[in-house]
Amino acid sequence: MYLNNCWQVAAFSREIVAGRMLSRRLLKEPVVLWRTSKGRVVAMQDRCPHRSAPLSKGKLLGDSLRCGYHGLRYDTTGKCIFIPGQTLIPPKARVRMFPVIERYTFAWIWMGDEERADPDLIPDVHWMDRPGWIASEGYHAISANYKLLNDNLLDLSHETYVHVHTIGHDSVAETPVEVKYTDKLVCVTKEIASCNPPPLYQYLARVPANANVQRWQRTTYQPPGYCVIDVGVQPLEAIEGSNRVEGRVINLVTPETDSTSHYFWAFARNFRLDEPEVTEFLRENVRRTFDEDREMLEAQQTVLGDGDFDPAYKVAVKADAGAMQGRRLLATMIESEQRGAAQRAASKPADAPEVVPAG
Ligand SMILES: [Fe+2]
Repeated sequence: MYLNNCWQVAAFSREIVAGRMLSRRLLKEPVVLWRTSKGRVVAMQDRCPHRSAPLSKGKLLGDSLRCGYHGLRYDTTGKCIFIPGQTLIPPKARVRMFPVIERYTFAWIWMGDEERADPDLIPDVHWMDRPGWIASEGYHAISANYKLLNDNLLDLSHETYVHVHTIGHDSVAETPVEVKYTDKLVCVTKEIASCNPPPLYQYLARVPANANVQRWQRTTYQPPGYCVIDVGVQPLEAIEGSNRVEGRVINLVTPETDSTSHYFWAFARNFRLDEPEVTEFLRENVRRTFDEDREMLEAQQTVLGDGDFDPAYKVAVKADAGAMQGRRLLATMIESEQRGAAQRAASKPADAPEVVPAG
């Protein structure tokens, strides 16, 4: 069960190129994304209602998509506009469409009830394209359930052990977190008054390994898969040429299936903006750091096995507070969405079966 009535990232905008189809499974649903002649992104179920062929194996003909199996053509609203050898088009010859909006360099998709798709609900990741910020971004396909990735992001004590070569330091695991929450989000804060900078911050702040810095990690989690971490270090002593480092680690996780996830990420910074090598350094080192997360998450999923995506952990420690609260909030929201859907279904008359005209 997924949270459906929310905006989730389907792709980076740049991945959806005019004249080409992008096929991607999202929340188990096959989806095909493409651009109309006016540049608008459309998202359709990647499944012909006729014989279930993937539409992405077909062809774009202007503002229509022709199924590659029997030539049925669909317009940008999903309506069938042509069937070879007949003039009558059954009303049910229609492909399911999903609302899509491009914002902050991403294409956001709404997989739930269309009438609830309010653009104001798109999560805020303005650091991606706002002047004064530069984002180093990337993508990981992760063979693990998305909740394991949420747990990872809501408990950063793992950095000490998993990310020794980039952001790990003993002080991260040793410093307790403060957790606050509302009925919409969870905030997890770790304030390290003084520590030595790990390798990534030595480079970014231009300080030696034995420097003293103040370090912070302030995470905002919004279910199902939005996690933005305000991170940074402030040198505590005057070191020539050093600078304060402030960034936002933007983590946007969209389930692909129960055991696989799309992980769209970025490190957006507001310092050393005129140094493209810093952008590249961050892209490379964050990728490397998240490679390490992927390896651990996939190993964890292998131990859990298929079908156990919500394990009752035997042991809970203090550092789990944020991840546990995140899971609780996600479960509550899914439950309430399911309850609402069940109530609406109960009050709605069933569809009459359609008679398909021959001809
Ligand atoms: Fe990590």
